[in-house]
Amino acid sequence: MQDTDNTRTSVICTSDLRHSYGEGELRSEILHGLNFEVHAGEVTLLVGPSGSGKSTLLTLIGALRSVEEGSLRVMGQELRGADEASRVAIRRRIGFIFQSHNLVASLTVLQNVQLLLQLKEPDPKARVEKACNLLEAVGLSHRLHHYPEELSGGQRQRVAIARALAPEPELILADEPTASLDSQSGQDVVELLGDLCRRRRSAVLLVTHDLRLLKDADRIWRIEDGRVNPWQPDLATTSP
Ligand SMILES: Nc1ncnc2c1ncn2[C@@H]1O[C@H](COP(=O)(O)OP(=O)(O)O)[C@@H](O)[C@H]1O
Ligand SMILES: [Mg+2]
Repeated sequence: MQDTDNTRTSVICTSDLRHSYGEGELRSEILHGLNFEVHAGEVTLLVGPSGSGKSTLLTLIGALRSVEEGSLRVMGQELRGADEASRVAIRRRIGFIFQSHNLVASLTVLQNVQLLLQLKEPDPKARVEKACNLLEAVGLSHRLHHYPEELSGGQRQRVAIARALAPEPELILADEPTASLDSQSGQDVVELLGDLCRRRRSAVLLVTHDLRLLKDADRIWRIEDGRVNPWQPDLATTSP
């Protein structure tokens, strides 16, 4: 990792990061040279209008898409020009909470959360205990042995969050994680993410439209017209 000053560790750092879609005449640049940072132990929000490139940026950071221009360092690894093995290694250190939950339909809630713990926690009893604790934290103790299809969208989202947190990743990338939750559960989920990340010194980068979450963030960036800037909202009058 790269230290920007004595106290803050930069987990994500971009320099003039650009991204385009399409070929030839249809090619159009949607990220026009981004410079931004995300630090360990902080919840960073990324807000901006629909179509502004938030999800594209998250997939670049998650090494799910190739970096074409500029620099993008994630947990010390430069992703521009990185080979597939390095990209896979980075992905394994990230907890993803994306809108499509990708829960395994044939596994129970408890089994889904334990899945990513197999590598880190060899003791099955400890695995179950850890998964149960996380499911309790997201309010799903009473659904341990249910299957994903038996849950509401909001409950599935909370399982996805517990699953992403289970291996204690250094970085969590969340794309609109509260979109399917009611207001109270949405706030609970962000508080939970914040607690865990501050305690473990991991970083959370969360894309959202949800104004109620702004107060739980340590830092807010706003992306618009392909550029990103630090944002200090006037909570009374602004909307992302
Ligand atoms: N795979 C793709 N191919 C071509 N254009 C895309 C693709 N994905 C997204 N875009 C376009 O890039 C822009 C940014 O999209 P996206 O990153 O999904 O924005 P956001 O998440 O902020 O809504 C949009 O104009 C979208 O239509
Ligand atoms: Mg999006």
